[in-house]
Amino acid sequence: MPKLVLAYSGGLDTTTAIKWLAVERGYEVIALNIDLGRSKEQPVVEERGLAAGALKVRVIDAKEDFVRYFAFPALAAGAVYQDAYPLATALARPLMAKLLVDVAHEEGATAVAHGCTGKGNDQVRFDVGIQTLDPSLEIVAPTREQAMARETQIEYLKQHGIDIPWGDKGPFSIDENLWGRSAEAGVLEDPWQEPPAEAYEWTRSAEEAPAEPAYLEIGYEHGMPVTLDGAEINPVDLVERLNDLGGLHGVGRVDHIEDRLVGIKSREIYEAPAAVILLVAHRALEAMTLSKQQIKLKKYIGAEYAELIYNGLWFSPHHQDIAAYVASTQRHVSGTVRVRLHRGNATVVGRTAPASLYDRGLATYDRDDTYDQSAAVGFISIWGLQTRVQARRQLLGELPETLKIAMPRGDA
Ligand code: ARG
Repeated sequence: MPKLVLAYSGGLDTTTAIKWLAVERGYEVIALNIDLGRSKEQPVVEERGLAAGALKVRVIDAKEDFVRYFAFPALAAGAVYQDAYPLATALARPLMAKLLVDVAHEEGATAVAHGCTGKGNDQVRFDVGIQTLDPSLEIVAPTREQAMARETQIEYLKQHGIDIPWGDKGPFSIDENLWGRSAEAGVLEDPWQEPPAEAYEWTRSAEEAPAEPAYLEIGYEHGMPVTLDGAEINPVDLVERLNDLGGLHGVGRVDHIEDRLVGIKSREIYEAPAAVILLVAHRALEAMTLSKQQIKLKKYIGAEYAELIYNGLWFSPHHQDIAAYVASTQRHVSGTVRVRLHRGNATVVGRTAPASLYDRGLATYDRDDTYDQSAAVGFISIWGLQTRVQARRQLLGELPETLKIAMPRGDA
């Protein structure tokens, strides 16, 4: 029998897929569970996979690689899709695609499979990733080929002697990993409805958050966070810690209408306390250490990077080019940022950097001013030169017209 490696979460969809791939497609199924943190199914994944008839269940702890090589580079780039979504799910897919391909090679499998539907972005990210890394692998997507209703899936498993207590169907479709939690479907499909309290699991509401704020100091080196409150901390522990602390203070909730690659607008609820805190602190450090031209271009590049990640083009030369630019911008993005967490907000309240461009002597209004105010006169004369010439040559005697251009007020 040909072998297939399935990306296995331990949920109902992929558990049904194990049986379906074996019965309907004649594969020996190797269930590959990739642990990226925060999954509720993690403890039961092995027994469930075997119960469903997998030849074996392989669990790979990829948390460290995920944070170090996927989440943190996105952080350094300031990659946030449509200014709202820190890309937790999107960043996980290329790593999963890579591990699927690696394990397929190790196991001598000719095919790989994932549980994505045909309506989302995740199918694109998996398929493009796998096809890029090994075009010879066949890709099977059971849920896309033959979506079964929840009850049908449970019934199908029962017919094959697999009786797992599935419990109540949760009210939402959830995906979670260390970088964030994504929720959609159910009542969230009505964009006018405020998300119910159950839509959130990682974060308290601002009302229920402690009245007292918490203060954190995050240290960055070349754009990567490396210390918390003065002590070195590994990437996974840092993210876990910030998720807990941020969640407690109600930080990291996002309610967003998002544009999927396949043309659908969808309402998404995200919780990403660590990502939101790290992004806001990182941006504050860049404001200290980058020139205004660097900040301007990098904002654009960060948005492009977010789109590339979102749209499943991780394994592309375009990514390599952007990564090289971003790494170059981070040469001096080192220092410490003080963040205040309080009732839903993460606010930067202090920053310090060895290569800071902030010069108090230049900025101050006090007596110890080092800035030459008289030099401003000459600068302004040159800066405004072209505008003055243009006003005289092209707007002469048309002052009311000028006012219309500069201050349009309709008919007035
Ligand atoms: N919309 C997000 C994305 O495309 C999250 C999708 C996660 N899936 C889910 N079942 N909630 O990256």
